[in-house]
Amino acid sequence: MFDFLFKVWGLAKIYRMRLFLGVLTGVLSGLMPMLLMGTIGFVYSVTFPSAQIQNGPSPVSNLPKFAQDWFNTMRTDLETDARGHPWVIASMVAAIPVIMFLRGLFGFLNVYCLQWVASRSIADLRTRLFRHLLDLSASFYNQTSSGQLMARVVNDTSLLQYLLSTSTAVIVRDPITLISITSYLLLTQFQLTLITVVVLPVCLVPIIIFNKKIRRSSREMQARSADLTQIMAESFTGYRMVKAYNLEDIVTADFRKTALSSVGHYMRIIRASNVTGPLIEFFGSCGIALLVAYVLCKPQPPANFIQLIGSVFFMYAPLKNLNTLQTSLTQGRAATERVFELLATSNSVPEPAQPKALDAANADITFENVSFNYGDKAVLQGVNLTVKSGRLVALVGPSGSGKTTLANLLLRFYDPKEGAICIGGVDIRDVSTRDLRNQIAVVSQEVILFNETIRRNIELGRPGASNEDIIAAARHAYAYDFIMEKPKGFDELIGEKGVMLSGGQRQRLAIARAVLRNAPILVLDEATSALDNESERIVQATLDELMKDRTTLCIAHRLSTIQHADLIVVFDQGRIVETGKHEELIRRGGVYQKLYELSEGGRLGGEAK
Ligand SMILES: Nc1ncnc2c1ncn2[C@@H]1O[C@H](COP(=O)(O)OP(=O)(O)O)[C@@H](O)[C@H]1O
Ligand SMILES: [Mg+2]
Repeated sequence: MFDFLFKVWGLAKIYRMRLFLGVLTGVLSGLMPMLLMGTIGFVYSVTFPSAQIQNGPSPVSNLPKFAQDWFNTMRTDLETDARGHPWVIASMVAAIPVIMFLRGLFGFLNVYCLQWVASRSIADLRTRLFRHLLDLSASFYNQTSSGQLMARVVNDTSLLQYLLSTSTAVIVRDPITLISITSYLLLTQFQLTLITVVVLPVCLVPIIIFNKKIRRSSREMQARSADLTQIMAESFTGYRMVKAYNLEDIVTADFRKTALSSVGHYMRIIRASNVTGPLIEFFGSCGIALLVAYVLCKPQPPANFIQLIGSVFFMYAPLKNLNTLQTSLTQGRAATERVFELLATSNSVPEPAQPKALDAANADITFENVSFNYGDKAVLQGVNLTVKSGRLVALVGPSGSGKTTLANLLLRFYDPKEGAICIGGVDIRDVSTRDLRNQIAVVSQEVILFNETIRRNIELGRPGASNEDIIAAARHAYAYDFIMEKPKGFDELIGEKGVMLSGGQRQRLAIARAVLRNAPILVLDEATSALDNESERIVQATLDELMKDRTTLCIAHRLSTIQHADLIVVFDQGRIVETGKHEELIRRGGVYQKLYELSEGGRLGGEAK
């Protein structure tokens, strides 16, 4: 049950000092009620010495011998002298407020320190989770939706934070209060206390029964709320589709169904946590009834009956809190499991333990007998290919033949199932992915832009680049003119995924980004597919210039753009079917020649966007 708490508090290790202070003040404030009961008893016995004698056995008769002696000497001294010394009277009067004040102070420090630690630990956990997710490979993202991931990072950790913040005070202080009061009572009035607490174990039964239900429901609730996030993420980012196809009602019905489905689970948690409270109260009152019955049967009223009843009251709040706490903990456990499950997912593209250095400039890229599949489907089979340093190799072939996949393997989004990819003789699995990707500039089929300024979007190619470099890159990509037409120029915000730009403009920003990156390896995946003929011709000229002296893998959607390539590789169904220069391939009259005929001057079918 508590293993997960250790996991959570494991996060707090770096805040050791505050954690220690929080726990310490919690223990101290937990001890205060006992001290208060003791003081009340003491003040009472000093103030009304006669009451003590009439009431039979001393309240300390069960304490160890030395404590009894000390207590009795003290009392006798006080009884004889008390009224003569003003300071004794003053301290008797002040004792109770002082203890109350200390209780409040320690209670405050306890909550403050633990909250401080909890909120920072959760922020750390969130960051760790986010970072972990970013480090995971592309195959992980194929299987999980971004809405689900957002829910984990935000909702599950929020729940955890809420639970930690509601339980931090309770978790240290209240058990101490309970244990200390109980042991104090047992020491001073063994029999009576035993009668009162004999019913306590019965309270555990409903708690245990409801525990399991709460945990299951809590897990379900978190899952449903993740579903909600997913529906929202998809509908908001795909709002054009939703509107164009009048899907509002369908999406809303989906949303409503998911929103409603968690209500049942929520009510189960509410039921469970609100039934156990009154049950505990009921059993507690049974305990008191037992006590009253016992006292009535006794000929002599017991010593410090008031103290006992007072103590039961002091025990009441912690008991109730602990009951709420265990509901919270059960919910927290479910959330923690989900979070740590995610943290435990391993990366299918592992970083090498001892990364080798990579120098991609003047290095050949070789694909050696590379095979790959997504799931069961073979996508690449026995691909052997060498891209000589500084040369341009073009990949052509019908849509779905595996060209993009080959580029993804070079970027190590996935690892090949068989074979190896080497740059300058170094297997890319032996290089840190950071180092590898630093040496590659990509312009991909889908342009990824962020809701930032144009300048920032280009700068992402090489964070920290100077303004002049950014402007030069924009000029190179023929983006400068359209940028300057925007009211704020480079400072214009472009909306989510760049919605405020046309497809061609987006692509030119992506090219500017690659220009800025200035990496020795260039991967172009249908980089000009969204451009109109006129700007494509211009941008192509830029790209041709960019390719100079760089090792380039160019996936072409239009064969006319790669006629001058050093090598043309024709893919079909994951295999290389032809290689050669343009003229050779045309002369051969094979697949390439047919593709060329089909696309003469036009686009190669299928994938143009
Ligand atoms: N993430 C993925 N998960 C499963 N299958 C995929 C994935 N990406 C691509 N595929 C499949 O792999 C094949 C090759 O895709 P791709 O490399 O994108 O082709 P190309 O770029 O040549 O058009 C296609 O049949 C496609 O359906
Ligand atoms: Mg592709």
